[in-house]
Amino acid sequence: MDDRKFSVLIAGGGSTYTPGIVLTLLDHIERFPLRKLKFFDIDGDRQQKIADACEILVKERAPEVEFVATTDPETAFTDVDFVMAQIRVGKYAMRSLDEKIPLKHGVVGQETTGPGGIAYGLRSIPGVLGLVDYMEKYSPDAWMLNYSNPAAIVAEATRRFRPNSKIINICDMPIGIMDRMAEVVGLKDRNDLVYRYYGLNHFGWWTNVWDKKGKDLMPQLKEYVAKNGYWIGGEYDKGTEASWESTFKMAKDVYALDPTTLPNTYLKYYMYPTQVVEHSDPNYTRTDEVEAHRQKLVFGECARIVENKTAEDTQFKSDDHATYIVDLCTAIAYDTKQRMLAIIPNDGAVSNIDPEAMVEVPCLFGANGPERLSMGKAATFQKGLITEQNCVEKLAVDAWETHSYTKLWEAISLSKIVPDAKVAKEILDELVVANKDYWPELK
Ligand code: NAD
Ligand code: G6P
Ligand code: MN
Repeated sequence: MDDRKFSVLIAGGGSTYTPGIVLTLLDHIERFPLRKLKFFDIDGDRQQKIADACEILVKERAPEVEFVATTDPETAFTDVDFVMAQIRVGKYAMRSLDEKIPLKHGVVGQETTGPGGIAYGLRSIPGVLGLVDYMEKYSPDAWMLNYSNPAAIVAEATRRFRPNSKIINICDMPIGIMDRMAEVVGLKDRNDLVYRYYGLNHFGWWTNVWDKKGKDLMPQLKEYVAKNGYWIGGEYDKGTEASWESTFKMAKDVYALDPTTLPNTYLKYYMYPTQVVEHSDPNYTRTDEVEAHRQKLVFGECARIVENKTAEDTQFKSDDHATYIVDLCTAIAYDTKQRMLAIIPNDGAVSNIDPEAMVEVPCLFGANGPERLSMGKAATFQKGLITEQNCVEKLAVDAWETHSYTKLWEAISLSKIVPDAKVAKEILDELVVANKDYWPELK
């Protein structure tokens, strides 16, 4: 009989996503049993606010699970089976600059896209590599699920610098979109769909979607997306913020460019940057919205739990982000071969794309990690876009590795959303100053 119980570490314990993940872990404790739950963060004060509430949650729902919150790497990483990595190096203060500096120059300002995403990438690389090294030192058999952004650049860095590490880079955007697709066709959720998808992180397309009996759902989905994008509305979208509403709706315009596939929402930034900039307020960007909504809600609810000394009536609930992560752990722990997306070395999965690109494709997840599935050839439109964007991501990692100003300038200039090398340089020079505490000194 398999009586294993697992020790899970959340790195970035102070993240706004932590309570949702804890709640989901506790909800699924029958299929993924826990013995320990640990938090690690370099900001002990921020983490403690979340940890105090989560400790109450754990005590009430699974008192047998040992709970630890620490800023000490050895305590955190010792005796761990799974690490869930969700750090934000530089926190929201730096995200805000990633968004506002490009916007000042008329360029999209976004967490994972264009110059802002590249800037964040150069901060995240050493942060995530540091976590991998702690894991290998203190728990060499553990697996890391990393979703610290920008996942595309972080994944390229882990491929290059830690090729043998047990790290899996993932993203929840396709998951959220597939839940919406299921809603459109009247199925329960994404697990009722079978799909083919390929691209880079935040840069991919569905070529097929079926139900479990093999019925082709693409015609119905295309008809819906052509009119509404991925916007559902009503009760389903009750809590969805205005900027996400506009993103889900804009999938309609991205879809129009290639009616043979269904797009990832993030492609709106690359296909319609002018429109995105026109609708942006350089003084109030997504970071301001997150601080006013998600961060306020999460920290407010944690404070309420601590004050009431109970989480029995908590507003926290399982979400698609957290259930995906728990599904992945379960697939690895029990070798289920569940088919899920991951960002993985291409190695032929998309046959006409660089084998050394980090692509996002469906994989079968088991005890040895992900086994990629072949998605065939990228169409000409996708091949062109992917090739360019992948070079942007590789140049960003080159720049971090060699401390090269020129490579970083090239990366930003090559980005589809940046008009020319002059604008790229102006943005880069401001980013260099803003990131002086985080980036290597560039030569
Ligand atoms: P957040 O700022 O609320 O939390 C991040 C935490 O990381 C902070 O408490 C911070 O102190 C901590 N941190 C920073 N550097 C660290 C380091 N080197 N070691 C340990 N801890 C460190 O951020 P959030 O909005 O909750 O998002 C967390 C991360 O998850 C971000 O990178 C975000 O982009 C990512 N995310 C990714 C996906 C995806 O699809 N891949 C989905 C959701 C969130
Ligand atoms: C999606 C993306 C993530 C991103 C998240 C939150 O789920 O896949 O990579 O971090 O959205 O974005 P937000 O702007 O709400 O912080
Ligand atoms: Mn993502």
